[in-house]
Amino acid sequence: MTPTDPLLRVERVSKSYGSERVLRDVSFEMDRGDVVVLIGPSGSGKSTVLRCINRLTEVDGGDVFLDGERVTDPDADVNDLRRQVGMVFQSFNLFAHLTARGNVMLGPRRVLGLSEEEARRRADEQLALVGLEAQADSYPAELSGGQQQRVGIARALAMEPKLMLFDEPTSALDPELIGEVLSVMLDLVERGMTMLVVTHEMSFARSVASEVLFLDGGRIVERGPPERLFERPEHDRTASFLRRITELHS
Ligand SMILES: Nc1ncnc2c1ncn2[C@@H]1O[C@H](COP(=O)(O)OP(=O)(O)OP(=O)(O)O)[C@@H](O)[C@H]1O
Ligand SMILES: [Mg+2]
Repeated sequence: MTPTDPLLRVERVSKSYGSERVLRDVSFEMDRGDVVVLIGPSGSGKSTVLRCINRLTEVDGGDVFLDGERVTDPDADVNDLRRQVGMVFQSFNLFAHLTARGNVMLGPRRVLGLSEEEARRRADEQLALVGLEAQADSYPAELSGGQQQRVGIARALAMEPKLMLFDEPTSALDPELIGEVLSVMLDLVERGMTMLVVTHEMSFARSVASEVLFLDGGRIVERGPPERLFERPEHDRTASFLRRITELHS
């Protein structure tokens, strides 16, 4: 690692499932504190990009580097990588038999090997940061979707990751619950977290993205700062995608 290394470097990543090419030569970089938003139609490969970064999916070609370390190296320590990269899913994925606190404590206990007491302290700290100190003892079934997703974010943060990946974190939520999750994500941006976010919440992208990447057919078709990309897309495919999204959200 050298001080000039970006935090994340995705270099010509490609991936196929059978004969279907899902990612083609995807390249981008993120510096510390950057917020990159990934948009694109269903099936364009957005989730696959995130999954290649924390090796839930193996790339066929190209490389991913985190802090200068080649995470796509077959010998790389995947558990160590997952400690450094937090992921938040569309569908929360909380354990139903554990309380909010129990869900957040699990990683620090099992993966980081913290004591019960340390893990509890860390969980309570993270739950407070997402505004859920009063819900620490609640089970997922007793929480709203927005609260469950905030537990999901606290769970990822409890590992003190270098990079956070969000895969459509608000798309399973009722409209009135989206705001509370976005506001937790905005706090996180302000605290300097490096975030790669798949979302079609354009106002979020507009206010915090350092760069927006538009993916179509497994390629980055267009990229740029949100103002430029949203207002003056250079490609027809970007323009028509943005029109569809705007219609859906208005
Ligand atoms: N495990 C898998 N096996 C086979 N095909 C897969 C697998 N995972 C993804 N695919 C295919 O890869 C393509 C890209 O999928 P991906 O989930 O990355 O798209 P996406 O942009 O996240 O879509 P969405 O907006 O619907 O979430 C799709 O055609 C999908 O069917
Ligand atoms: Mg997806």
